[in-house]
Amino acid sequence: MASTVPCGMGADVVLEDLSRVYPTTGDLAGVFEVSTVIEPTSFVVLTGPSGSGKTTLLNLIAALDRPDKGRVLVEGLDVGGATERAQATYRLRTVGALFQDAPLVSELNVFNNVALPALLAGVGREELDSRVPELLGSVGLEHKAAALPAELSMGQRQRVGLARALVNRPRLLVADEPTGNLDRATGKGLIRLLGEVCALGCTVVLVTHDPELVDIGYRRLELLDGRLVSDR
Ligand SMILES: Nc1ncnc2c1ncn2[C@@H]1O[C@H](COP(=O)(O)OP(=O)(O)OP(=O)(O)O)[C@@H](O)[C@H]1O
Ligand SMILES: [Mg+2]
Repeated sequence: MASTVPCGMGADVVLEDLSRVYPTTGDLAGVFEVSTVIEPTSFVVLTGPSGSGKTTLLNLIAALDRPDKGRVLVEGLDVGGATERAQATYRLRTVGALFQDAPLVSELNVFNNVALPALLAGVGREELDSRVPELLGSVGLEHKAAALPAELSMGQRQRVGLARALVNRPRLLVADEPTGNLDRATGKGLIRLLGEVCALGCTVVLVTHDPELVDIGYRRLELLDGRLVSDR
């Protein structure tokens, strides 16, 4: 990651007695009474077995879902209790998100996929013409600006997804199993890029069921049956 790529200064995330409960047949699923503080510019790995609530928790942090109880505070904003409009602004400007399948707009080339959130945020053409190539350079894809998503490998698509998640200089980056469709070496490369994003000042929350992929120096939160069972 080129050190010239600016991220916003890292956001702090406070989870207060957070619950999101899905009633299922006979049992309850979701996340239950999760409380923790994620320091600004830290790198947190959220891990746990399938169904333990990782995606549910990440969606609450990204304001893609609302809690049934408790609060998510990002830079003091109660993102779960915010209006639709405030949530939309938060998703556009404060948080960047990366998912397992790197959903890109298939009709748009790489440049325009990365530029899209910035256009929505009102960033001007001239600024885009410097910001997007710089980001593509940071993820090693400057030569693919004109390519369509279908012409990319999965690892390249994930890196376009990362550039797009960073284009509005988020202060928080959330990533849900972004290496799930990648081979080990490519997955490690992507996680190295996330580490560089963090080193530039962005808070990073990475969900993975494969913590072996990640530097052991990072803080790990472990979920089991929707509850936080370990923090180290
Ligand atoms: N929309 C939903 N409706 C009902 N139950 C749901 C819904 N979303 C998730 N759940 C349930 O909540 C629990 C946690 O799901 P979640 O997707 O957060 O797990 P996860 O840790 O991300 O798992 P995986 O590693 O497989 O992605 C599971 O038992 C799941 O079945
Ligand atoms: Mg999941």
